[in-house]
Amino acid sequence: MESISQRLMRNAAFAEIYENLWRPTFTRLFSLGGRATEDYDRALRAYLSRPGDRLVLDVACGPGNYTRLIADGLTGDGRCIGIDFSAPMLARAARTNAVDRAAFLRADAHSIPFEDNTFDVVTCLAALYLIPDPLPVVDELVRVTRPGGEIVIFTSVATVVTSLPGVQRVVGLTGFRIFDEDTITDRLRAAGAVGIEQTITGHGQYVLAVKPGSMSTSGDLQ
Ligand SMILES: C[S@@+](CC[C@H](N)C(=O)[O-])C[C@H]1O[C@@H](n2cnc3c(N)ncnc32)[C@H](O)[C@@H]1O
Repeated sequence: MESISQRLMRNAAFAEIYENLWRPTFTRLFSLGGRATEDYDRALRAYLSRPGDRLVLDVACGPGNYTRLIADGLTGDGRCIGIDFSAPMLARAARTNAVDRAAFLRADAHSIPFEDNTFDVVTCLAALYLIPDPLPVVDELVRVTRPGGEIVIFTSVATVVTSLPGVQRVVGLTGFRIFDEDTITDRLRAAGAVGIEQTITGHGQYVLAVKPGSMSTSGDLQ
């Protein structure tokens, strides 16, 4: 049976208010009353929108809020592709965030429809905690990243409060998952990622990782 969270993501009215109302409010809630998540998010937005000729994949892009931000910074042949499985979210993306260097595609994050080693940067922001079987998605993020490329994740993390007996069970009834501190980093490591940096901002965690290796000019792995 679909959870409340899953139903919300497929709701047309929710897709309309997500970018400007829900996401900023929700980001604030991650900080346990402080501003750490908002501050990190601001820094991340600046980093993701830096100029460059990159191919970027934004997994579970929702209404394309980050897809557009990334695309707007790109130069040369740079492109950002947003994928999501919610038709209402993608309809909103097409209406409000379809800039020149952005493209949107309906797809399931469990089987990303791109070849191995394709993208310079792969992001998955504010989504893993809504996906019932999220760890295979982490493997997919690593798979489609090119050697030398970067994976950027924002998701939940357990705190003292959410680790109290029963809390995760109750929260889980909504379909929202709270990850233990090592679950995402361990999975990235197991999938072959290196240089893993985790920043915890209250109930949220930002994880940056690199896929090792490099590509030769002919595109072969080295
Ligand atoms: C909360 S939104 C995040 C949007 C955006 N990335 C952000 O950071 O604001 C989560 C998105 O994940 C999508 N999603 C959930 N499970 C998915 C899956 N298995 N495959 C693709 N998208 C999925 C939902 O449809 C929803 O649009």
